[in-house]
Amino acid sequence: MESRQVYMDHGATTPVREEVLEAMLPFYKELYGNPSSVHAKGREVRSAFEEAREIVARSLGASAEEIYFTSGGTESNNISLRGTAKKHGPSGHIITSGVEHHAVLDVCHDLEKDGYRVTYLPVDGDGLIDPQAVEAAITPDTFIISIMAANNEIGTIQPIKEIGRIADQHNLLFHTDAVQVVGQLPVDVNEMKIDLLSLSAHKFNGPKGVGALYKRKGVKLNPLYSGGGQEGKLRPGTENVPGVVGLARALELSVEEIPEKKEKLELLRDKLIKGLLEIDDVILNGHREKRLPGNINVSFKYIEGESILLSLDMHGIAASSGSACSSGSLEPSHVLSAIGLDHHAAHGSIRFTLGRGNREDDIDYVLSKIPAVVENLRRISPMGKSK
Ligand SMILES: Cc1ncc(COP(=O)(O)O)c(C=O)c1O
Repeated sequence: MESRQVYMDHGATTPVREEVLEAMLPFYKELYGNPSSVHAKGREVRSAFEEAREIVARSLGASAEEIYFTSGGTESNNISLRGTAKKHGPSGHIITSGVEHHAVLDVCHDLEKDGYRVTYLPVDGDGLIDPQAVEAAITPDTFIISIMAANNEIGTIQPIKEIGRIADQHNLLFHTDAVQVVGQLPVDVNEMKIDLLSLSAHKFNGPKGVGALYKRKGVKLNPLYSGGGQEGKLRPGTENVPGVVGLARALELSVEEIPEKKEKLELLRDKLIKGLLEIDDVILNGHREKRLPGNINVSFKYIEGESILLSLDMHGIAASSGSACSSGSLEPSHVLSAIGLDHHAAHGSIRFTLGRGNREDDIDYVLSKIPAVVENLRRISPMGKSK
């Protein structure tokens, strides 16, 4: 085991940054009131909580009453899809893509069992959705289009603005799972004509288990839970005040830093991609340019991603194969299958996701270790070519 630790799995989660932790701590200590209480202890917390809502709204170009706090991306996606479906009626048509996160795909599968129809649009070899295909899929009973802003596995950024325009022209709701994009790239819900947007704090150096849903004013949906009147009855339950304060602080800082962070991560990303492609039989997955600043996803032919991960882990390097949620399963990821990778290439895929803590010497370190790892594994690989 080596003592050096290089974390390159920011797509799975990120460390909470110091300023965020500091902002949260008082709400675990002296500021413990329930924001719904009328006494001073409650009121002081309510004002901080509402300030957090303002900050989140500003970061998205929204207004405060359009922000609802949730437990994360999964819940925001569930509320968006199940909530609009149930409000719409007992049946209807949903348009989504085949490369969505399971927090959208599995909800759609459930809704199909409940009697709704779902179109899962294909993507091209780079993972891109064609806006014209979105438009062509619209039928008279379509009520919502749900397309992710960028893919969590291969980093491909979707043409959200074009898709938003199409949804708007056809008077359809447009939901985007922007969990991988918020805090990494600028988002403006009006410019992109987004009606519903999911975000999650732990992807931008905020705490885990807290997220938000942007819901355009006037969009009607049914809540998933019954209970108290919190969050306009859309998401009842006593508010996670420290989490929400942390989310807002993390988002505020991330959005402020987007220009410099984007430039830095793109440089590091491109250096890592270039170095990895110098190894024989390595292919880049996802779009070369339209890709998240910190995302690198490559396939090493003839070896298993899991074996590479274990070898990298022994060198102190944290990466992932497929998405965090589907790793542990031996099935090739639905995203890699959707971009047309054959079984071998899909199995040999590794995702490195960079974040604000990464530096150029981390890239050099990975590039110094990986050729020997790949060579050794290929030598003993049962999957054909040995080197
Ligand atoms: C694209 C995408 N959507 C949704 C989620 C789920 O978010 P959360 O972990 O906050 O439930 C993730 C997390 O991996 C994601 O990458």
